[in-house]
Amino acid sequence: MSDIIKLLEKKREEAKLGGGKKRIDAQHAKGKLTARERIEVLLDQDTFEEYDMYMEHRTNDFGMADQKYAGDGVVTGSGKINGKLVYVFSQDFTVFGGSLSEAHAEKICKIMDMAMKVGAPIIGINDSGGARIQEGVASLAGYAEVFQRNVLASGVVPQISVIMGPCAGGAVYSPAMTDFIFMVKNTSFMFVTGPDVVKTVTQENVTQEELGGAKTHTSKSSVADGAFNNDIETLQEVKSLIDLLPSSNREKSKNIKDSFQDLSPDYSLDTLVPENANKPYDMKELINKVVDNNYFFEIQPDFAKNIITGFGRIEGRTVGFVANQPLVLAGCLDIDSGKKGGRFVRFCDCFNIPIVTFVDVPGFLPGVSQEHNGIIKNGAKLLYAYAEATVPKITIITRKAYGGAYVVMASKHLRGDINYAWPSAEIAVMGAKGATEILFRNEIKDKKKIDKRTQEYTDQFVNPFIASKRGFIDDVIRPHSTRRRIATALENLKDKELSSPLKKHDNIPL
Ligand code: HXC
Repeated sequence: MSDIIKLLEKKREEAKLGGGKKRIDAQHAKGKLTARERIEVLLDQDTFEEYDMYMEHRTNDFGMADQKYAGDGVVTGSGKINGKLVYVFSQDFTVFGGSLSEAHAEKICKIMDMAMKVGAPIIGINDSGGARIQEGVASLAGYAEVFQRNVLASGVVPQISVIMGPCAGGAVYSPAMTDFIFMVKNTSFMFVTGPDVVKTVTQENVTQEELGGAKTHTSKSSVADGAFNNDIETLQEVKSLIDLLPSSNREKSKNIKDSFQDLSPDYSLDTLVPENANKPYDMKELINKVVDNNYFFEIQPDFAKNIITGFGRIEGRTVGFVANQPLVLAGCLDIDSGKKGGRFVRFCDCFNIPIVTFVDVPGFLPGVSQEHNGIIKNGAKLLYAYAEATVPKITIITRKAYGGAYVVMASKHLRGDINYAWPSAEIAVMGAKGATEILFRNEIKDKKKIDKRTQEYTDQFVNPFIASKRGFIDDVIRPHSTRRRIATALENLKDKELSSPLKKHDNIPL
C-alpha cells in the first residue's frame, strides 16, 4: 500500500510541475503567475478539489508520444470564492503553450457539465495558443465541444473568462461566448490571427498590444469588460464580481443581511443637478451615493462612456445599474451605448438581477456615421433588452428624458415597475428650442418672438408633471431620498412575477 501512496505522491508532484521548471521561470519572468498559482489566488484557501490531474494527450504524430505532461496543459476542478461554489479551469502555458488538445477539452467540458448540473459559476483562466496544432482536427472538435457548452450554459450559470496570456484562435472564441471577459494589462492579448498572419494577408504592421491588447479590447473593440494591472489584481476583481452575482438562474435575488443598511437622506444629492440644464454633472456620483458602502463594480468603464453599466448592492441585494452619463456626449444614446447597455440588461434579466436605471438623456446622437453604421438596429438592442426584461425595473429620471430615448430608458411603457422623477426632470417629446422652431417655423426670424415661444414651451412642457398626470411617472421624489425609495421599491418587487408569450427564443436585432 505504501508503494502506491508513494507513486501517487510522485505523480502529483510531476503534475504540479507542468511543463517544467525552465518554462515556469519563463512564465514568472514575464510577470505572469502559473496556472496553479492563479487558482490559489482565486479560491478560498484549501477549497480546491482537482479533477483529471493525470490525464494525458493521445497523439503520436510529430514526436508527441514522447512529450506527455500529466494534466495536459489545463488544471480543472471546483472550489469556493468567499464560500460560494465555483468551477474553474486554468490553462497552463508551460505545456504546449496552453494549447487545447482533445483531452484538454474533455477536462474543461467535464467541469462545465458539473457546473451546469449543480448551478455554479464557471471561471475560465485562459492562457493558450489555441487549438493544439499537432492534434489537428481532433483539437478543433475539442473546441467545438467547449463552444457548444458555452452556449448551453449561457443564461444558466454565470461564465467569466479571464485572459492571462496570449490567446489566439479558439482560445478567444470560447471567451467571446461567456458573460464577462477580463484582461491583464500588457501581458494578455486576444486575436483570431496574430500580427504575423495580419502582415502576410493585409500587409499591415501591428504589434500584439495594438492588435489585441487590453487597451484595444476595453476601449475600441469592447470585446473585454475590464482590464487590471497584474494577475493578482485581476483575480481579486473576479472574486469581487463573483460575490455580487447569483450562482445560477435558479437563484432568486438575495438580501445579504450584514450589508450596509443605512437609508438616511443624502442631502448632497439635492444639488447634484446644476441649475443650468446645459451643464453636465457626474452620474457616477449618484450611483456611488446610492449603493451600499459606496461600492460599485463597473462593467466596460472604458467603452461607450456615455452609458454607465455595473453592479452594486442596495440593502444587501445585488442590483444592475444602467445610467446615462451627462459628462460624455451629453449622455446621448449611440451605437456603442446601445450595444453595451443592451447586453448588460440581458445579463441581469437572465440571472434575476433587478435593474435600476438613472436617466438623463437628450436623445439619440445624430450624424451620418451613426446612421450608416446602424444606430437603428444598435439602438434597438437596448430598447429590445429593456422591453423583454421581466426582472424588477426601477427608473429614476434625474433630468432630461426626451423623445425616443425617454421610451428606451426603462420607461413605464416598457413594463417599468416603478418610475420616479426628480423635480429637475424634463420629460418631453423634444427640447424646447427644437420644438418651437418646428411649431412656429414662420416666426423663426424674429428672435424675440421665438425666445418667448421657447420660454412658454419650457414653462408648460419641460417638467416632470405632464408625464406624472398620465401615470407615466409614479411620483416626483426629492433627490435626497433616492436610496430609500429604491430600497423600498426593491423590497416590494422582490417576489415580482411577469411572463412573456411562450416561444422557442426571441430574435434580438444583432
Ligand atoms: C501547439 C503551441 C501552440 C499551439 C504555442 N505552442 N501555440 N503548441 N499548438 N497552438 C507552443 C510553442 O511551440 C512553444 O513550445 C510554447 O507553446 C510557447 O510558445 P511561444 O511561441 O514560444 O510563445 P510566445 O512567443 O509567447 O507566443 C505565444 C503565441 C504563439 C502568440 C500563442 O505561440 C502562437 O502564435 N501560437 C500559434 C497560435 C495559433 O495560430 N493558434 C491557432 C490555432 S487554430 P515550446 O516547446 O517551445 O515551449 C485554432 C482554431 C480553433 O485555434 C477553431 C475555433 C473556431
